[in-house]
Amino acid sequence: MKRQQMRSLVMALMLTTALPTAAAHAQAATASASKPWMNPKLSADQRADLIVAQMTQDEKLTLVFGYFGSNQEKPKFTPHAEARMGSAGYIPGIARLGVPPQWETDAGVGVATQRESSDPYLERTSLPSGIATAATWNPDLAFKGGAMIGSEARSSGFNVQLAGGVNLARDPRNGRNFEYGGEDPLLAGVMVGAQIRGIQSNNIISTIKHWALNGQETNRMTVSSNIADAAARQSDFLAFELAIEQSQPGSVMCAYNRINSVYACESDWLMNEVLKKDWGYKGYVMSDWGATHSTAKAANAGLDQESAYTFDKEPFFGAPLKAAVADGSVPQARLDDMAKRITRSMFAHGLFDHPVVKGPIDFAAHAKVTQADAEEAIVLLKNDGGLLPIAKSAKKIVVIGSHSDVGVLSGGGSSQVFPIGGMAVKGLGPKGFPGPIVYHPNSPLKALQARNPGAQFVYDDGSDPAAAAKAAAGADLVIVFAHQWAAESQDYSLTLADNQDAVIDAVASANAKTAVVLETGGAVLMPWLSKVGAVVEAWFPGANGGEAVARVLTGEVNPSGRLPVTFPASADQLPRPVIDGDNSKPELMVDANYDIEGAAVGYKWFDKKGHQPLFAFGHGLSYSTFGYSDLKTSVAGDTLTVSFKVTNTGKAAGKDVPQVYVGPKGASNWEAPRRLGGFKKVDLAPGASTTVSVSVDPRLLATFDSKAKTWNIAAGAYEVSLGASSRDLGAKADVTLAAKTLPVSYDGK
Ligand code: GLC
Repeated sequence: MKRQQMRSLVMALMLTTALPTAAAHAQAATASASKPWMNPKLSADQRADLIVAQMTQDEKLTLVFGYFGSNQEKPKFTPHAEARMGSAGYIPGIARLGVPPQWETDAGVGVATQRESSDPYLERTSLPSGIATAATWNPDLAFKGGAMIGSEARSSGFNVQLAGGVNLARDPRNGRNFEYGGEDPLLAGVMVGAQIRGIQSNNIISTIKHWALNGQETNRMTVSSNIADAAARQSDFLAFELAIEQSQPGSVMCAYNRINSVYACESDWLMNEVLKKDWGYKGYVMSDWGATHSTAKAANAGLDQESAYTFDKEPFFGAPLKAAVADGSVPQARLDDMAKRITRSMFAHGLFDHPVVKGPIDFAAHAKVTQADAEEAIVLLKNDGGLLPIAKSAKKIVVIGSHSDVGVLSGGGSSQVFPIGGMAVKGLGPKGFPGPIVYHPNSPLKALQARNPGAQFVYDDGSDPAAAAKAAAGADLVIVFAHQWAAESQDYSLTLADNQDAVIDAVASANAKTAVVLETGGAVLMPWLSKVGAVVEAWFPGANGGEAVARVLTGEVNPSGRLPVTFPASADQLPRPVIDGDNSKPELMVDANYDIEGAAVGYKWFDKKGHQPLFAFGHGLSYSTFGYSDLKTSVAGDTLTVSFKVTNTGKAAGKDVPQVYVGPKGASNWEAPRRLGGFKKVDLAPGASTTVSVSVDPRLLATFDSKAKTWNIAAGAYEVSLGASSRDLGAKADVTLAAKTLPVSYDGK
């Protein structure tokens, strides 16, 4: 049976197997007009209080105990026919009260359908990786991408999407950096917050994850991220805080790792103190899959739902929780609060009023969304002599490596979306999790050929340096696609795998008109950089990544991506040159000392230590040029506003991302000389100008006092810098700020 026929059969099966259940729930919900909690005029809090008051103890316990969705072939995982094939999680509903089941799907780039052992992959649209969306510096695109994948989740019958990865890129080798929003709390918070808003615009819940300081994949289940309170609040916590304020995610997923030797999902500091008390978070905390380690300790520390209990050593929130409440080690009020938080989020995000019903997906429209994101994510790192865009006169173009003749790379693990049309290359990478290595069937080579019909294209697979160099000699242009797979549960090396450095070096030695296109999950080293004419970072560019790359290389799209992470010149520049731990010993109890850098993550560390990066945070070139002028500052109350003019001084229309950095003049207790205080993406025709105004959140001008639990702006002189990256700062303005103290509950309003 052809793939397409099989896919239609699978989709039909999914439609028929689910409709009655969803309709039944919908029926239950609408028919429950007599149930006061179904009055949409009431607040989510009121509705949750009303429904929890009607629940039996067992019904409350149903809500807090999750199953692995996976597939029906392994009934021990999912004894419920209602669970979705190939899904991450499932919590039964309470039909008597009209509570729908919670159908959970991964993750941040689309509906990740956990490869079925024998059935064809369930296929959905993949966005570019999270770090790519962050590289657009365009919250509108992040929203649109979230709205798209949330609509595919909804159409596939899911009402909880396990997205919102926002852990800061403390270590550029973290295997899951590709899922997140980079190294800066403002950029990550704004971009991931926008995506969560987009997802939840579909009347489904999004998570934000992994709470917190999940900064490496080596020994991810046991490593302890050790850091002082204030440093955490000014870095990783601030990314979560900003994203939560801007998107109200229905749920927070607590992480696998320990923080200061306490498991995240048992940390009273993380869940009760910071999240629920200091920030007033009203949603619920779900565990990561296998991150629950106890019953009373976890519940009393603030964990509200055990996910996929079969991943844990015991069913902690099953019978043991019922017993713990009965013997008082978990107060009844705590269980009631757990049920309230879960149902409150379900009311707040439309799960009761808009029950998910499977439906058709407009894949053609969704392809446009993912491609637009990928196009703006692409960062032009180097472009000597205008090697790019491809000259119309180019008659012979050699394309090398990374299966660019058939597809583009994606990141591995639970976020893996299996491509429409099937994987472009089969049999790559680990057979089991976090494999396989998936290439989306969208060929950069084919897309380039379609746009340059007059040129002769030669493809070389890049497996042999000498053969590649031979092919490259004499060409008008050589494009080498270089890949570095990244995946959950493992960190990666900054050195390109598969002897690619040798291939690029040989090719560039044979032909200086060489452009390198990187398909990576983050930073990599480039020993050949001085030998190549151009370098483009395309990240994992998603389902339409080949088209997106071709449009940028040909100049149809003017590149406007900016780095959301620092590219180091060497691992020796990092706070931890060698990653702590040993992944061959999964039980190893490891300590990672994040107090080395504290809040000075990424470019802040490089600025503090005076290191010269390979490419700086915020860097990205254009086929045009932009000028900044008229820098002005004003202070009103606790808000610093910075305005300036941006002019497209080049010959091509294009987008730019002027960045505002702020820092104290002279000595201070700040973690680093300066912080990103604001940014704006602008779109300008040649010669056009626009005036931009950004307000700096006062927390970005403050330091956190853990004892007083306040944000404190010190009186004095501060320097406002305007530039095209953290290291390309031009105009500066001094501003004087008065002392200001803000409560820990300050939420930017
Ligand atoms: C995974 C990941 C988490 C994911 C969950 C469900 O191990 O850590 O991001 O949402 O389990 O697949």
